[in-house]
Amino acid sequence: MNKKIGIFYGPARGSNTEKVAQKVAREIGADQADMIEVKEATTEDLKKYDRLIFGVSTIGKETWDGYASRGDWDKFRPELDKADLKGKTIALFCLGDHVTYPRHFVDALGMIYEILQDKNVRIIGHVEPSGYEFEESQGIYDGKFVGLPIDEDFEPELTDQRVKNWVAQIRKEFDQ
Ligand SMILES: Cc1cc2nc3c(=O)[nH]c(=O)nc-3n(C[C@H](O)[C@H](O)[C@H](O)COP(=O)(O)O)c2cc1C
Repeated sequence: MNKKIGIFYGPARGSNTEKVAQKVAREIGADQADMIEVKEATTEDLKKYDRLIFGVSTIGKETWDGYASRGDWDKFRPELDKADLKGKTIALFCLGDHVTYPRHFVDALGMIYEILQDKNVRIIGHVEPSGYEFEESQGIYDGKFVGLPIDEDFEPELTDQRVKNWVAQIRKEFDQ
């Protein structure tokens, strides 16, 4: 079994999502995590890992299609749809902006979560909403964010600690 964690993220190349993916990788330990850009990733890449982290940003507030038609995750979506992820453990993180989009804060978190619903995967790394200010989010199920929200636009000073806490949490949850 591949012990490494695969961090699949997009958008890439100078994005906030990439910056946070790098922080997550560093916190996990660079030799224990691979970073993969979703726009170039295939089902074969997903197959290599039992433990995955998916990183995304929220661009556009209507639907997955509205958002993703412009994004790297749109290119990856067909691969994700046909991938056999059964038995894998997956943690999600999502970039958003709680000041400009308080009613759609990190909605993309929920969009990815929905896709994974019928995939027989275990989703870990849920986060209490009490540390965040927002009005509504599609990223909340059963009272918790289904991944780690990060706001690099208005709360960048909180990112390092949020990543640190979350990585400590998922480290434990990956092994459970
Ligand atoms: C056109 C546009 C639409 C956005 N829509 C949302 C949104 O609906 N909800 C949200 O939380 N953030 C939204 N954001 C904020 C981004 O998610 C945030 O700036 C993020 O850090 C961008 O990350 P990236 O550089 O990896 O794409 C939007 C940003 C842009 C430019």
